[in-house]
This record gives sequence, C-alpha cells and structure tokens, in this order.
Amino acid sequence: MAKTRFVETHEELSVLAAEKIFSCIQQKPDAVVCLAGGDTPLRTFDIFIEKTKHHSVDLSKITFVGLDEWIGLDGFDKGSCRNTLDEYLFSPLNVKENQIIFFDGKAESTEGECNRIRNAINRLGGLDFILLGIGENGHLGFNEPDVPVDELVHIVTLDNITRESARKYFSSPVNVSKGITLGMKLILSTKEIVTIASGESKAPIVDQIINGPVTHKVPASLLNNLEIAEFIFDKTAASKNFV
Ligand code: PGA
Repeated sequence: MAKTRFVETHEELSVLAAEKIFSCIQQKPDAVVCLAGGDTPLRTFDIFIEKTKHHSVDLSKITFVGLDEWIGLDGFDKGSCRNTLDEYLFSPLNVKENQIIFFDGKAESTEGECNRIRNAINRLGGLDFILLGIGENGHLGFNEPDVPVDELVHIVTLDNITRESARKYFSSPVNVSKGITLGMKLILSTKEIVTIASGESKAPIVDQIINGPVTHKVPASLLNNLEIAEFIFDKTAASKNFV
C-alpha cells in the first residue's frame, strides 16, 4: 500500500517533497532522479535548491532524467518541459548537460528518441527517485487514462483535458497533440516514488485515487499498490478527503 500524507498548504507539501529529494541524493550521491515539470513542483525546486546550497551538496554525480515532453517542442521553446526544468532547476543548480537525459520533442524520429532514452536509463540501471505531479485526468507524465502499463518509454496521443491544460504553460497558443513520456512500467519500477497534488482542480481526481479502484483508467491510482510510493496532497487537492 502506498503511503498518503495530507498537509495544510502547498508550502508544506513543497517542503516535504524537497526533503524527500534531498534525502535521496544524500543517501546516494550518484542517484538517477526524475523530477516532473508542471506548476506543482516549482516551489519544491526552490526549496530543494536552497537546501543544496545551504549544505554545499555536491550534485555533480547525479543524473537528471526528464519525465516527458510535448512532441514538436524542445528546450528552446518557452513553456516546454525541458525549458521549465532548465529555468527552475538545472540552471540554478548549475547542472551540466552531460548529467541530463531529456527528450527532444523535435527529434526527427520519435521512435528513435524513445529508444535513445530507454537505452540511456537502462544503462544507468533504472531510476532511483521520481517526483510526479497528477493531471486532472489522473495522468502521470503523459500516461493518459487507459494507457498500456507495459511501456518503458512511449509516444502518447494526448487527451482533451491535457491539451486544454497545456494552455497554462504557454504565453501564446500551441498546437500539441502528442507527448513523449516515460511509461508506466518504468515509472512503477522506480525505487522511490513521490507524487504531489495541489489545487481545487485536482480534488475530483484525488478523490478517485483515494477512494476508487486501482485502474489504468486513472494511471495515478496504480501507485496505490506500491509500498515505495507516497502521495502528498494539500488541503485544496484533498478537499473531499481532508482528515
Ligand atoms: P501541474 O501539472 O503540476 O501543472 O498541475 C501536473 C500534470 O499535469 O502532471
């Protein structure tokens, strides 16, 4: 059974999530970590950055793996997953390019890109830690409802909720219909999984994750079966279940 923690505020959630990442890299200075983009983790990144600076932690042996990317966009596109991570995490931490394994959403061959990332993660022996957000439809990365659960890395056609929510990341309209993402098989085989959700818009799906069945129709619910998984929900996201 996954652990579920309820906290009052997004700030508390961010402090806890940052502590989790920090403790992972302290225990394993050459850890392979994957930190989701999106809005929810941005404050977690700030706190994590402050902590590493405060404790003068050497991150030079850490490998950072990207969770997902919009097909058609790369790190130069403001609002892309890579661009967000560059701005809020990699640049402030001075992470070197050779420590980053990230999807290029503009790669000529998307299948080739899946293979490149799959092989790179395989060579590293899998992921030690992953921080995930949850989509309003229950997706993890771009693993949309009804996703096949046996994929390591794959291309996904985005559902309408994800296309709609894409708007908040971009200052001008973008036409995104597909994503490239770590698949559920890879995510679920990570040694430690922390999943965070905040905000009213997540309350219905968080309610399903807490009270509904474990089903690939709600990809985040699949984490419920894992001992090594932990959910952290703040009061707004867990408003239907806050205890
Ligand atoms: P958000 O995205 O953190 O911006 O809400 C989460 C997600 O869609 O996975």
